[in-house]
Amino acid sequence: MKTLITQYIEEIRNARIEDFKDKAAEVEQFRVRFLGRKGVMNELFEQFKALPNEQKKEMGIALNELKNAAMAKVEEFKNFVEEKMDTDGCHDLTMPADFAQRGSRHVLSVTMNEIAEIFARIGFTIEEGPEIEDDYHVFTALNFALDHPARDMQDTFFIEKEPNVNKPTDVLLRTHTSGVQVRVMERQKPPIRVIMPGRVFRNEAISARAHCIFHQVEGLYVDKKVTFADLKQTLLYFAKEMFGPDTQIRLRPSYFPFTEPSAEMDISCNICGGKGCNICKGTGWLEILGCGMVDPNVLDACGIDSKEYTGFAFGMGVERMAMLKYQIRDLRLYFENDLRFLHQFDNII
Ligand code: PHE
Repeated sequence: MKTLITQYIEEIRNARIEDFKDKAAEVEQFRVRFLGRKGVMNELFEQFKALPNEQKKEMGIALNELKNAAMAKVEEFKNFVEEKMDTDGCHDLTMPADFAQRGSRHVLSVTMNEIAEIFARIGFTIEEGPEIEDDYHVFTALNFALDHPARDMQDTFFIEKEPNVNKPTDVLLRTHTSGVQVRVMERQKPPIRVIMPGRVFRNEAISARAHCIFHQVEGLYVDKKVTFADLKQTLLYFAKEMFGPDTQIRLRPSYFPFTEPSAEMDISCNICGGKGCNICKGTGWLEILGCGMVDPNVLDACGIDSKEYTGFAFGMGVERMAMLKYQIRDLRLYFENDLRFLHQFDNII
């Protein structure tokens, strides 16, 4: 019995927590093996009781030593598990943490979401449409006659095209989000109050100020008695929410085939506050969007009675909004995925 006890003591002293894989569970197994009800300790104690009295003193001391060794070891193991291990016992919490690099949204997504949110607050819902469109939805239904020169304003990427003729069935990459207006009006009765964010494509040489892919957010409001005053107030509200409460707007007459009258909207320069600086080229104003009252021809083409209903529409470039808001100088930065650029916007949402 003495040798057995000595062996156990030896085993206990040599036990190392590092050898345990599932540490918390193995520590418990270790405790049960030595100190549990049917464990080594109790078993030896039963044998001890049967010993002749003259051996009891020596064995008693040895057993005590074994018990103390087991208890001390279990205590040591438990402390280790509690202090250094997390609950599933797999990680050493004293290890230096791995740096978890968090992803972030692209500045264009953030800007697009912000624009959508501002309009959502005044009851606009979001609609999306296809990027591969047909001529009918992008041009014809929007009052671009088949030979209308305004088609040339938008350098279209064609996918399937009749040679030398524009056909409503031509398949193309949409050059603006205005085609979604048509799709919404075709299937929904007024009141319609939607904004339509999306990617658009134009066959332009890539430079700091132009790209062949960019993003627009379009807005459309059609109901009885919608007036130009509604358009102006809606856009003033938007400009103040987007660029700050002191922002002013001005509208300049312009031309789009699908709106009449049409306007281009400027905001007071958010850098110099309107005094004139190199961002606004000394004018104090920055052009941000196109807008107008939906041309009655467009309403009629979409099955909405233009005698009963009126509407306004507007469209803005998301890249331009973000450029003005965050003073980004070069459009190409948006698409190059240079981390030094992307990380500058980690905290904007
Ligand atoms: N679709 C126009 C463009 O791409 C913008 C616009 C939208 C203008 C809606 C008026 C109304 O330039």
